[in-house]
Amino acid sequence: MEFPVKTGAPASQKTACAILPVFEGRRRKGATHEIDMSSGGALSQLIKAGDASAKPGQTLLVPRLQGTAAARVLLVGCGKEAEFGAKALSRAVATAVDALSRLGIKEATSYLAYGPVDGVDDYYAARLTAETARRTLYRFEELKSRSESKVHLARLPIAISDRRSAKEARRGVAHGRAIATGMDLARDLANRPANVCTPSHLAKEARALAKRYDSMQTKVLAEGDMKRLGMGAILSVTHGAEEPAKLIIIEYKGAGPRVAPVAICGKGITFDTGGISLKPPPGMDEMKFDMCGAATVIGTMAVLGELQPAINVVAIVPACENMPGSRATRPGDIVKTMSGQTVEILNTDAEGRLILCDALTYAARYKPRCLLDVATLTGACIVAVGKLYTGLFSNDEELSAAILAAGRRSLDPAWRLPVDEAYGESLKSNFADFANSGVREGGASIAAQFLSRFVGDTPWAHLDIAGIAWKSSREKGATGRPVPLLTDFLLNL
Ligand code: BES
Ligand code: MN
Ligand code: ZN
Repeated sequence: MEFPVKTGAPASQKTACAILPVFEGRRRKGATHEIDMSSGGALSQLIKAGDASAKPGQTLLVPRLQGTAAARVLLVGCGKEAEFGAKALSRAVATAVDALSRLGIKEATSYLAYGPVDGVDDYYAARLTAETARRTLYRFEELKSRSESKVHLARLPIAISDRRSAKEARRGVAHGRAIATGMDLARDLANRPANVCTPSHLAKEARALAKRYDSMQTKVLAEGDMKRLGMGAILSVTHGAEEPAKLIIIEYKGAGPRVAPVAICGKGITFDTGGISLKPPPGMDEMKFDMCGAATVIGTMAVLGELQPAINVVAIVPACENMPGSRATRPGDIVKTMSGQTVEILNTDAEGRLILCDALTYAARYKPRCLLDVATLTGACIVAVGKLYTGLFSNDEELSAAILAAGRRSLDPAWRLPVDEAYGESLKSNFADFANSGVREGGASIAAQFLSRFVGDTPWAHLDIAGIAWKSSREKGATGRPVPLLTDFLLNL
């Protein structure tokens, strides 16, 4: 999809459809006012009569408007002007794009950020517009025998009022498009069912990235390699599965070889049955999404490939299935992790921390400047922060602040939760160094505390995305979060 940046007076801009904001109360400037004047007050009449509403989510298509170069106009409710910030802008773009695609319109010019938007410059407005438009148009139909929703919208020019910031706006478009590309990839991987998206499939997709971008290299370790490395934890999770496990490593090199990389691990359980600690049947299909950490880490690597920032990043994706069976790990089994620490597996459904702990140990080989992990780790995190925020756990104030800020800027927010030593109390074991599961209360912090035992002094942040990685019921599907957060964090290092 194309997003050319346009400057110049709204009334004289040729377009199939001008997307115009409607704010509460009367307004004597901005694109809506300018087009209203040139059309002899047609728009203000519609607003006054209540045909066009300022309510967010509302739209009105006005065809054949006289006196302007635009063939038609889409009025979009934008709420109170004083409250029109990044979030409201993004919501308005989504509303407009949704309406346009249902109307079958191929091209439309957005004036939603033509006037001032609170705390949003032209770079940021363009980035949000491009990202939101693409995100709204995403469909997953590769496994349907025929497409159900043909998307026509192919060109969305973004109008800005200050021609001096055109270059910045174009940079915003590039960033927004790259983020959308990363999200699309993450969503495709996650939406594919577990019989398609296997660990080998993830490895194949990672290799395809390295082929597409010269600055990227992919290495895939097989179970034999993991055995040699002493990765007893991940091997114990994959033991009940026929499908071979993979440890996928993607290196992005945008800076010199002496620059320490950021390492990001992504949980890649391509299906989580719970293992012998079997999950109850309702909603179990959604455990195909238990690789959303992996998907979003791979998606973020695609963003880096598109934008080529001057940093080094290594992605480490442990990928396997968690299955029951005669070879599966039993509750009570004890395994030795790559770190040398032994773990009593009391609950085979607490498998995410087991594959991640070996990945975190492996990541230390890269001497990273900081270490992140992204995982659909605990139901407890959903109980704690719901389906809006990523749960953030960290041993480092500066890193934590940077991630929270990135989440706010990218409208992909995270909320910090505690990871004190004391949360490890219930992981005590009479038979091994510690167990893989503890008490129910504070389960997200207990899982984080478990992981913290594998990162040493490296600045580390754990993102529990159990609540935000996918949506259920009618809207069932992967969200592509937290690709925007991760990208913003990496671009602002
Ligand atoms: N993948 C699940 C966590 C999960 C559950 C994410 C539901 C999203 C929705 C994870 O592997 C798991 O099963 N965690 C257990 C841990 C417990 C056994 C300590 C959980 O949260 O119940
Ligand atoms: Mn589980
Ligand atoms: Zn899981």
